[in-house]
Amino acid sequence: MTDSHSQCRRTQEDLRRLGRTHAVLSRCNRSLARALDERALLYAFCANLVEVGGYGFAWVGYAGERRGALLRLASHAGGGDATFAAAVLACANVGDRRSACRVACESGAPVVLRDLSVPSALAPWADAALGQGYRSMIALPLRADQAPFGNFSIFADMPDAFDAPEVALLAELADDLAFGIQTVRTRDAQAQQLRRLRNDAEREARGHLAATLHDGVGQTMQALNLGLKQARTLAECAATVPVALLDRLIDEAGEALRELRAVSCELRPLFLERLSLLDAIRHQCNETAQRTGISIRVSAADCAFTLDDQVKEQCFLAFREALSNAVRHAAASRIDVLLRVRTNDRLILVISDNGRGFDTHPTGAGPAGLGLCMIRERAAGVHGRSCVRSSPSKGTTVRICVPLTKDPILCP
Ligand SMILES: Nc1ncnc2c1ncn2[C@@H]1O[C@H](COP(=O)(O)OP(=O)(O)OP(=O)(O)O)[C@@H](O)[C@H]1O
Ligand SMILES: [Mg+2]
Repeated sequence: MTDSHSQCRRTQEDLRRLGRTHAVLSRCNRSLARALDERALLYAFCANLVEVGGYGFAWVGYAGERRGALLRLASHAGGGDATFAAAVLACANVGDRRSACRVACESGAPVVLRDLSVPSALAPWADAALGQGYRSMIALPLRADQAPFGNFSIFADMPDAFDAPEVALLAELADDLAFGIQTVRTRDAQAQQLRRLRNDAEREARGHLAATLHDGVGQTMQALNLGLKQARTLAECAATVPVALLDRLIDEAGEALRELRAVSCELRPLFLERLSLLDAIRHQCNETAQRTGISIRVSAADCAFTLDDQVKEQCFLAFREALSNAVRHAAASRIDVLLRVRTNDRLILVISDNGRGFDTHPTGAGPAGLGLCMIRERAAGVHGRSCVRSSPSKGTTVRICVPLTKDPILCP
């Protein structure tokens, strides 16, 4: 009777612990999805273990570049303050002591110390831990592509707090954290690369603008200036100014005006303010078809919608880049543009060509230009999505999908 009673209590305790660990896992999954940066992610995981999981102390350490290099404290929660973390770290890092944290980090396997009051070479900091009231601990490796790069350690105030099912769940949690760290780092690196590309593109655009103004409008204005001086000299001598000279000056002024308009339209398509998105697309396609001789067909369905100005501008600029790519790179004889509304809440814009296509997953050097990244960025900037489908000699299709409501779109 007593045996079955205590067995029942143990089972209940095991279930309670597992339930708590599951709660930590689900809270950590939420933290993973919402993490803004690496530091916040690390702290969220440590804090969830302490606040939701009821553990005493959790900390994350990163290994140095070299094998056997010192561990670096990256984040911690619980345990009152950083003093205990500093004590663990100081002991873990002394000489070649094989403390649990370092062993987990170097071997890539979890290390569990079931009772810290039992002396162990793996716990040179046991006195400090016992002094804080901790009786057991687990050190979990953080791994990227199977290679450990840090450790995630948890201290509990009960001896034997980590049984096999709990170790399995916590190992899963450490893998989730390692995955989150890698994702945040990749995202940051991509954002940085995009910023660099954007700066380069802006610098190039400024250079292009300066050259266009200098070599185009600047030269025309200079010729105009000379012509006007000539006309003035003639007028001073009371001679008639020849009509041919005046006609030339008028032509030159007209040319300068056209060049200026082209530059300002490139910078900001003003016609967008007066035209609907569909009409602006038609206008651009007509102009491009006349200039290039390519057959461009625009079709639209269910297009009774109103767009916010920012969405309209981003859609148009993304469309213009896709069209310009089709003209510049595809050697296409035909381009189709389709605009339609789907399920009343999203606008779909598809630009396809019958040109040479390209490999959308090239190996080797990074992206050739900025255009495709900007299409993606512009769509994402208005809570939409874009995708590019292409393969060599099969043509290219760019699909842009943006919400007409405030809800973000999850798939293009
Ligand atoms: N419609 C297309 N047909 C064939 N190749 C394409 C097409 N669109 C893009 N590409 C290929 O993808 C590459 C990347 O396009 P992206 O628009 O990002 O850069 P870019 O056009 O080369 O330069 P930028 O847009 O910065 O002026 C292009 O250089 C081209 O090789
Ligand atoms: Mg481009």
